[in-house]
Amino acid sequence: MKKDHSKKIWIVDFGSQYTQLITRKTRELGYSSEIITLELCKERFNNEAYPHCLVLSGGPQSVFLDDHDYSFIFDQVDLPILGICYGMQLMGKYFGGVVEKGLIGEYGQAEIHFEKVFQISNCPNQMSVWMSHSDHVSVVPKDFEVIMRSSNQLVASIKHNHRPILGLQFHPEVEHSKHGKTILDYFYKDIAELNQDWNPQEMLDESIELVKKVGDKKVLCAFSGGVDSLVAATLAHKVLGENLHCFFVDNGLLRIQDYHHIKRLQEHTYLKIEVIDARHEFFLALSGVNDPEMKRKIIGKKFIEVFENKVNEFQDKFKIHFEYLLQGTLYPDVIESISPHIAGGKSVTIKSHHNVGGLPERMKLKLLEPLRFLFKDEVREMGLALGLNREWVFRHPFPGPGLGVRIVGQVTEEAIRMVQESDQILYEELLEAKLYQSTWQAFTVFLPIKTVGVKGDGRAYENVICLRMVNSSDGMTANWSHFPHEFLEVVSRRITNEVLGITRVVYDITSKPPGTIEWE
Ligand code: XMP
Repeated sequence: MKKDHSKKIWIVDFGSQYTQLITRKTRELGYSSEIITLELCKERFNNEAYPHCLVLSGGPQSVFLDDHDYSFIFDQVDLPILGICYGMQLMGKYFGGVVEKGLIGEYGQAEIHFEKVFQISNCPNQMSVWMSHSDHVSVVPKDFEVIMRSSNQLVASIKHNHRPILGLQFHPEVEHSKHGKTILDYFYKDIAELNQDWNPQEMLDESIELVKKVGDKKVLCAFSGGVDSLVAATLAHKVLGENLHCFFVDNGLLRIQDYHHIKRLQEHTYLKIEVIDARHEFFLALSGVNDPEMKRKIIGKKFIEVFENKVNEFQDKFKIHFEYLLQGTLYPDVIESISPHIAGGKSVTIKSHHNVGGLPERMKLKLLEPLRFLFKDEVREMGLALGLNREWVFRHPFPGPGLGVRIVGQVTEEAIRMVQESDQILYEELLEAKLYQSTWQAFTVFLPIKTVGVKGDGRAYENVICLRMVNSSDGMTANWSHFPHEFLEVVSRRITNEVLGITRVVYDITSKPPGTIEWE
């Protein structure tokens, strides 16, 4: 069998909401893995390219309605296969067992136990796992044995007697399956007999190989100072040196901490970062605009215009030609384009996200995406391996339209000042209280509402600042952060004392959904 793909484990996605998690857990265990579609799997097999091991994900469909031909997978007699939930039912059906529609399903937490004397080391005999199914394997195919059952006596796991095949009715990849990772590792190590091949050095080597393909061409980077663009640029700089040019657009909608950050990067890294001062242009373009979606569109469009003009000027002046655009695209974005349902089926545009999409076509640039196979936590690990400061690598995410979406309504100079000053106070206090890393994002929002207050002996009629702090793992869902009251009190007192024009501070206690993280 030809095994020439860089990733040992291929995870065939059947549309489970947990497919990304299988990949993440697999990589955390130290095995290289990628998500592919059934069609791509078939195409690769037809070209005689095979993985070291295949995982069939769960999925919303039922084997009763499915008329796909999976025989090409199971025909590979030496190929280790793990079937999870729907993946196990496919296995049961293919090998001649019986899959039945359940009268009652098993959803959520369930208890399972090992059959007879079967054991997996470091797993208790009985454990709690996450289930999400109604169909189940009721008659086990010939050559398979049942190794686990649920407390309802339904089959929870089957194993082939002489081929490296395992089926799990539950989801080992989900946090609620307490010993899930141990079971996954049992499959990879004991059944598939794989060696671990995934670590920060591997990630680095693979990404460097991607950058090397550029040769001696000039590369352009729309640098934001965020983790992704910083790690991508630092990595690319190792290979490209002077051929990498970073441009940072100052749209005037940045926090005070961002200005400090860029200055520090200019002073303490080898990156050449050219700052484009476009504050005035953005301000003019936004003047009088109230509508959030309109503001987002204007900021996105202006960014491309400013960036393109500046880069063209630069190319003319220094008689050079950029051939590539370096982008910090991550694996979740790549997966979303392969299997759109994985990313949560974003069928309705809630907010048009501002990014540099559209730039490559417009400026006729080829894309260089050295992080396209990595998850965010892997990018952070790589950043540390590249010698970047921990504090840079673990910065909170900051949206492309910046403070433009943290000022409700019109963007005025005064509103920018108030949100910048209040944000800086919050930031300083988070660092002081060592709470910065205990939250996913923490920021202030300017609300253009006047409320009555007392300042000194007089009546004040001034604006409101809202504190927004949320905990999240990917920004798709979020809970408001439960910060100590003493901390909130210090921040509130400092803002009302130090920020001219603010007499009231409120705390947003809305989770996502229904609220989004940003206010606009
Ligand atoms: P929402 O407000 O949609 O935000 O709950 C989810 C996450 O996305 C960030 N965000 C953006 N990031 N461009 C970005 O690069 C954008 O236009 C944008 N809008 C929101 C937000 O800060 C949060 O982390």
